[in-house]
Amino acid sequence: MDFEKLRQDFPLLKNKIIYFDSACTSLKPVQVIEAERRYYEEISACAGRSAHLLAKRASEMFEGARERVAKFIGSKPNEVVFTKNATEALNLVVRSLDYSKRSKIVTTKLEHHSLLLPIIEQQRRGAARVEFLPATTSGLVDEASVEMAIDRQTALVAIHHTTNTTGVRAPLEKIVKVAHENGAYVLVDGAQGVPHSQVNFRSLGADFLAFSGHKMLGPTGIGCLVGREEALKELDTFIVGGETAESVRLDGVKFLEPPKKFEGGIQNYAGAAGLAAACEYLSKIGMGRVEEHEKRLAWKLIEAIGSIEGATLYGPKTAEKRCALACFNLGGVKHHQVALMCDSLAKIALRSGFFCAQPAVELMGAAEGAVRASLYIYNTPAEIEAFKETLGKIAMLGR
Ligand code: ALA
Repeated sequence: MDFEKLRQDFPLLKNKIIYFDSACTSLKPVQVIEAERRYYEEISACAGRSAHLLAKRASEMFEGARERVAKFIGSKPNEVVFTKNATEALNLVVRSLDYSKRSKIVTTKLEHHSLLLPIIEQQRRGAARVEFLPATTSGLVDEASVEMAIDRQTALVAIHHTTNTTGVRAPLEKIVKVAHENGAYVLVDGAQGVPHSQVNFRSLGADFLAFSGHKMLGPTGIGCLVGREEALKELDTFIVGGETAESVRLDGVKFLEPPKKFEGGIQNYAGAAGLAAACEYLSKIGMGRVEEHEKRLAWKLIEAIGSIEGATLYGPKTAEKRCALACFNLGGVKHHQVALMCDSLAKIALRSGFFCAQPAVELMGAAEGAVRASLYIYNTPAEIEAFKETLGKIAMLGR
């Protein structure tokens, strides 16, 4: 696979930027941009409603996109619910599950706010209580505590696939096994995992998997909740409205089966077309090759940050357990300042602060926040060299 050549597909790279902020959102290739444009130019109608030709094309395109996503993630098409993003998909499960018989949600402090906040909200409202699986400062979930925390009172185990702070994966095999032995559902936040690794919904064994399109080369405003058919049926309604019900009488509503039950109102058709194109693009490369490329970059990235005098690297000190993502601080220069200087000195785009995961960032030892470099398929070893050189210059200023 020629990873240098595929850079030509990304219009923004023509500006000679070094884009190290893919955990926030990835760049988009022309194939995705074109797919969105084609929807507006050639269809521009809504699916599942009107009888005219354009509407028929919209329905075919939308359901075709669902099939494409299902093939990519290893599920059946009717197990794919289109949402606005991973946040909406996570909220959908956490807020629509029944906690009347079992009231415990097991999670970790490593979660992104998009999962942590709906869980905390359920606790604040008195619907559920939360228990946190212990985790180390390196972002590793303590496997030994899984059996202790997950019990017959547990309704839901909600956990990341890969964290957006250390880039480390959760021990999902064990968690899924113990959760299912206890009759609990498992919800996996795949926002950082699905774009960067081979995730097959069926082999994962979880009941629900959430991810966003925009972190995997797709457009913003589209994401997915993938759920086992039977598990989706257990969820109560979430956003209701047009095309979620089969019959609406004032004395009783009959809702449609999932996924339609959860797709209220006009959908992001252009986004679905773009997401399908992104799945196609990644499948052509092969997610195994994406992982290998990122692993090579991860080793180089860790080595680059580690070589800077006064730099603190958070998370594991080797790339073995990471994707190509690393959080760090430079002694003497505040994190936002490091990010601003990288931008102005060398057009390097980084993110700084808490990455919408404040408890996780505090746990890894960066009480005031950190700088994050997160890489993807279009990044190169030469860019990491430039990053290292720039960090070296900034570190000198801090001394
Ligand atoms: N989840 C995104 C990030 O980590 C927004 O930057």
